[in-house]
Amino acid sequence: MTKTHKILMLAGDGIGPEVMGEVSRVIKWLGENRSLNFDVTDALVGGCSYDKYGVPLTDETLQLARDADAVMLGAVGGPKWADVSYDKRPEAGLLKLRKELNLFANLRPALCFEPLVGASSLKPELVSGLDIMIVRELTGGVYFGEPRGIEILPNGERKGVNTQVYTTSEIHRAAHVAFNLAGKRDGRVMSVEKCNVMESGLLWREEAEVIGKEYPQIKLDHMLADNCAMQLVKNPKQFDVILTDNLFGDILSDIAAMLTGSLGMLPSASLGGENDGAMYEPIHGSAPDIAGQNIANPIASILSFAMALRYTFDLPDETLLIENAVNNVLAEGLRTADIMQENKATISTSAMGDAIIHAMEKISS
Ligand code: IPM
Ligand code: MG
Repeated sequence: MTKTHKILMLAGDGIGPEVMGEVSRVIKWLGENRSLNFDVTDALVGGCSYDKYGVPLTDETLQLARDADAVMLGAVGGPKWADVSYDKRPEAGLLKLRKELNLFANLRPALCFEPLVGASSLKPELVSGLDIMIVRELTGGVYFGEPRGIEILPNGERKGVNTQVYTTSEIHRAAHVAFNLAGKRDGRVMSVEKCNVMESGLLWREEAEVIGKEYPQIKLDHMLADNCAMQLVKNPKQFDVILTDNLFGDILSDIAAMLTGSLGMLPSASLGGENDGAMYEPIHGSAPDIAGQNIANPIASILSFAMALRYTFDLPDETLLIENAVNNVLAEGLRTADIMQENKATISTSAMGDAIIHAMEKISS
């Protein structure tokens, strides 16, 4: 009997269902052609769950996520739910999944595929060969800190509050992930915070140093977040692993994504401890403006599944098969609209899925 790999598909809102549809096809292909046994369940998260059940994540769906080996998530949110209270917003469903599954380390690899060097907003020589790994802390910081809310002051003014909080253990466990990854890469970690204005940033820097001592073979440096944003567009290849908090990681990973050509290219893995599950999602959002048109780029989602094969299912050959197929399709000149370049062919979401599966077939034969 081959081992069963349990996957929960949470396609979500906007372009989520379209891009995840292509992931489903890749999973099906691998099941049929590589005698792998994927047990796939679908459920709702985000605005679609709110519309049906009144909450962005039901207890049943959370349980399905706990039971799965890997959760594949599309995207959540959209203008339709802009007036919903924060605790019921589509995003709250995603944040609850991250928190409840204890997925404290978010790996966001910004890798520039050679055929896309010209699609980047930076000069080709700045991004050619780019390979950065951002480790974003995912279950702490200002995303979850208390107190939070909007209150009315005695003078009638309104006051909005969010709180940036980090404890040593939260910083340590994220740092371990970064140092371990750096050990398998170029051996350098850049820890990023704002210790010039924030005590939580100073704590971050000091505790990163503490963990750094346990990894004498890894070079640890520190950078302020604003400078890091600037350096990412000035000289991105100076970075190997970037270790940073939840909010800075959110922002810096969007910048890093654009360096690679498009937000539609960047996958991510959200991992926890030994016994925790894992969730894989593209870093792009639900892109409601292009939803339902079959033009979104499914590559970030497909590469997120490749990350699941690498980190959860331990199938390095299949991981490489997908990554090489994506590279070959790009090399052939096929592009979705977001990564369009002169003299290339624009194709739809589903045609990109077709092309990637075809490339997988070709590599395998
Ligand atoms: C991301 C997204 C999410 C975040 C949103 C959808 C809550 O921007 O994964 O980068 O802010 O973490
Ligand atoms: Mg983001």
